[in-house]
Amino acid sequence: MKAIIAAGGKGSRMYPLTFTTSKQLLPIANKPLISYVLNNLIAVGIKNIALIVNATRPAYEELLGDGSKLGIHITYIDQAEALGLAHVVKISEKFVDGDSFVYCLGDNIFTAGIGKPFKQFLRTKADALLTVIEHEENYRLGVPFFDARGKLEKVVEKPEHPPNKFGVPGLYMFSSKVFRAFKGPDGIRSSARGELEITDLYNYMITHGYKVEVAELEGQWRDPGKFDDSLETNKLILETRKNFKILGKVDKDSVLSGGVDVGAGSKITNSKIIGPVVIGDHVEIENSTIGPYTAVGNDCEIANSSVEYSILLEDVHILDVKNKIEASMIGHHTMIRKTNRKSPVYSFFVADHCRIDLPE
Ligand code: G1P
Repeated sequence: MKAIIAAGGKGSRMYPLTFTTSKQLLPIANKPLISYVLNNLIAVGIKNIALIVNATRPAYEELLGDGSKLGIHITYIDQAEALGLAHVVKISEKFVDGDSFVYCLGDNIFTAGIGKPFKQFLRTKADALLTVIEHEENYRLGVPFFDARGKLEKVVEKPEHPPNKFGVPGLYMFSSKVFRAFKGPDGIRSSARGELEITDLYNYMITHGYKVEVAELEGQWRDPGKFDDSLETNKLILETRKNFKILGKVDKDSVLSGGVDVGAGSKITNSKIIGPVVIGDHVEIENSTIGPYTAVGNDCEIANSSVEYSILLEDVHILDVKNKIEASMIGHHTMIRKTNRKSPVYSFFVADHCRIDLPE
């Protein structure tokens, strides 16, 4: 059994953060999104994993290397152009080499893991397994259509009028027979949006008489593609997290409540931390209030300020800010501070595609 992970894409809805990194490497609760995907695969015992990457390949190589630190083996496959989710499958044929495989989107989080559908895939020896989950906005997703007897008929990409509440999340399972869908005159073709669609891959398997199983997922599914989704996902992961650890120093004038992680070499002085909150390594927090639902990356500095429901990436400095900072995602090496200027003006040094919300 192998696994492939789609880890390319432009992540344009997360600009400017994704100008310098890949969407799948952005942190949720201080861990890169892709680590949640890898942990789910590792939990079901899959060790041979390919990442399908684009220009951001060096960042993955730096973080994950050949996977040996995680006890797995990672192969990198370059996808020159984003030609669709089924195209990712197509270019993985050599890596899969006749095995069965799990296919994950590198930015999808499944809070209950992938154990249940994976066991069903193994038990039934299916040629394909489609995971489904109830979703209010399933018209934005692939949607399974069932016949009167509940048998899967087809999967339709973003139907205007979905006939049920189910959507297809970014978790797919196939035997190597799926590669036949790219060959011969009846092979799948690019859709109107110029992509090889994952839904067409399932439709090919169904119409050619292969055994296609359906599994309803347990737990919650998130694919934080936008800024607001990232904050919500960060909240969900912090809320459901069980183990918190204090490695750094917390002075006697500070009050911690709820689950709080304080990383190695970090110092909390005269501050209030309202969990759930994760604070990375080498962070300094002084005379401030942090949380709830906040992730503070490594090397941040917060003084005389208050931050709630936010994600701070590494090396963010928030100094002497009078009003509370809330619902914010702040990129690496950023400074927000009060100055001694007497005139009531704002002054910005802000990258492309940013958004700044000011109160009335
Ligand atoms: C893609 C798939 C769709 C699936 C969704 C899950 O949609 O094409 O079938 O439901 O991922 O996130 P896209 O992100 O390309 O709109």
